[in-house]
Amino acid sequence: MSTASTLRVGSVELPNRLFVAPMAGVTDRPFRQLCKQLGAGYAVSEMVTSRKDLWHTLKTSRRADHTGETAPISVQIAGTDAAMMAEAAAYNIERGAQVIDINMGCPAKKVCNKWAGSALMQDEPLALQIVEAVVAACLPHGVPVTLKMRTGWSQQHKNAVRIARAAEQAGIAMLTVHGRTREQGYKGQAEYDTIAAVKAAVRVPVVANGDITTPEKAREVLRLTGADAIMIGRAAQGRPWIFGDIAHFLATGEHRAAPLTQQVKHWLLDHLGEHYGLYGEFAGVRTARKHIGWAVRALPGGEAFRAHMNTLDSCATQVQAVSDFFDALSVDHDRLPAAALDLAHEDDAQDAREAACTAN
Ligand SMILES: Cc1cc2nc3c(=O)[nH]c(=O)nc-3n(C[C@H](O)[C@H](O)[C@H](O)COP(=O)(O)O)c2cc1C
Repeated sequence: MSTASTLRVGSVELPNRLFVAPMAGVTDRPFRQLCKQLGAGYAVSEMVTSRKDLWHTLKTSRRADHTGETAPISVQIAGTDAAMMAEAAAYNIERGAQVIDINMGCPAKKVCNKWAGSALMQDEPLALQIVEAVVAACLPHGVPVTLKMRTGWSQQHKNAVRIARAAEQAGIAMLTVHGRTREQGYKGQAEYDTIAAVKAAVRVPVVANGDITTPEKAREVLRLTGADAIMIGRAAQGRPWIFGDIAHFLATGEHRAAPLTQQVKHWLLDHLGEHYGLYGEFAGVRTARKHIGWAVRALPGGEAFRAHMNTLDSCATQVQAVSDFFDALSVDHDRLPAAALDLAHEDDAQDAREAACTAN
């Protein structure tokens, strides 16, 4: 199986099998669109809460904004009540969702005083009730429902295979498994045996996720799991061209050249333009800092630039600084210098990530 081939999810055809993971606070529409332009076949939105009272907040309405996004539009919903989740599915379909993804993967905060996200894996009857209700709500619209989960609740309770079988029976069209338990958060290494076991247990497409950071790792995870597709989260932060790199490597067995420094500058500037368009100047400049920081983090002079850039508070000065940084870099580096990505280091930021992982 080639990751360049299409993949059918219910009635929807995905152009390839390299996906961007949903990341709250990261995979907004501009970032999803950039990843799609640079080789990702599919991108799931940041999670949208099932709490109706929050649908009109600025945060949720931005998350539900799909203007200009390349199809298929996939929206992830999070919550703990089957009827509310069904309503959330219908609401997002009205707003353009062509696939609905249920979040049982995030070590999320409480939603309505109950633990949502991967905590649902601890309550299998409730998890199944939610799946059934959401599938029933989507069926009349011909919209497939997918499920993203972890390997289980804890090392002692790895129930991904049981949930996968039940979810398939209930009509789920694709399953994504992040190779960690809920208890692990983002610590330790993702394991792929449980993902392989899920793949062996169901007939619907299975997507492998967790710690895929290089083309070699992508090939290894596909080999170990037999998965139909792979999903990449943190490694795409600041490196949205990783999807094209992986596609090239899987097709040819060779690494393609690093992107031209000037090309990276233009991708980032275009991304900033879209980002400011969605968030406006005040929020846009501030929330763009993390994307710029990821883009420069491992480049020569990147840390100093990041510190300086965090002091700038207008779109114009931010754009100029980014442009100047990449122009200066390109004097000695025609192509982007190799940047080692250390996800283990990212464990330290787990709390911050969990804080970002809220549904409203
Ligand atoms: C900042 C951040 C936010 C995340 N938000 C979500 C989310 O909203 N929904 C979800 O299912 N998973 C969420 N995740 C988990 C990712 O989708 C993915 O499963 C995880 O990062 C492992 O993949 P990776 O090793 O490629 O990053 C989040 C992860 C990060 C780092």
